[in-house]
Amino acid sequence: MRTIHNADFLRDPDFVASYARGIQAAEADYSFHWRVHVGLWAASVAVKLEGDFVECGVNRGFLSSAIMNSLDWNARGKQFWLLDTFAGIDSRFVTDEERAAGILERNEGEFYVGGVDVVRENFSEWERVRIVVGAVPESLVEVDCDQVAYLHLDMNCAPPEVAAFEFFWPKMVTGGIVLLDDYAYRGYESQKRAMDEVAGRAGVKILSLPTGQGLIVKTPG
Ligand SMILES: C[S@@+](CC[C@H](N)C(=O)[O-])C[C@H]1O[C@@H](n2cnc3c(N)ncnc32)[C@H](O)[C@@H]1O
Repeated sequence: MRTIHNADFLRDPDFVASYARGIQAAEADYSFHWRVHVGLWAASVAVKLEGDFVECGVNRGFLSSAIMNSLDWNARGKQFWLLDTFAGIDSRFVTDEERAAGILERNEGEFYVGGVDVVRENFSEWERVRIVVGAVPESLVEVDCDQVAYLHLDMNCAPPEVAAFEFFWPKMVTGGIVLLDDYAYRGYESQKRAMDEVAGRAGVKILSLPTGQGLIVKTPG
């Protein structure tokens, strides 16, 4: 992302340390500083609310590691639920349009983690981390929490993201934040359409961010 606007968060010591913790988790720098900046801000707002944190689509844990570092997670009384197949996109839960666009080809190569062990090891420094292995929507029933303050959806395909939104939205506390990673991302137009539709059914609008992310705040009523 290029901008002429102020990006001095890049020099903020907490941002620098948290972004570095993300790199440590992923063993790579995805160069997505502004998206991490948005995620850290969302988490800093949500941590003041009642309710747990949830991420659907964890991979090696870049963003969630950065968040736990920034929030000093062991000092918090919340659970952080981390849902993923830890084996890439589940072909049963993609649309025909996504399949035709070649989404399953992203399972090839080494970007998606090929097992949960390395992920457990990465998150082992933190308490109250609940790693749920399996495909969303099937794994949603394993999330045993009534209140959610922060929900990050980053599964790169629409059907599980829609299902997760429908599952968690009634559990979101007032002021809670839903962050969508792929909402306005180039090449993910069907995901945007699906999320606009499900958000519309819930009576909310999604803020489209220039990073490609989408943001929803649960307001009263
Ligand atoms: C872009 S990666 C997530 C990146 C992560 N948020 C980070 O900060 O690095 C997308 C992840 O979604 C997962 N995924 C895709 N479809 C899924 C499904 N139906 N259920 C669970 N996980 C899924 C993949 O295994 C992959 O790890």
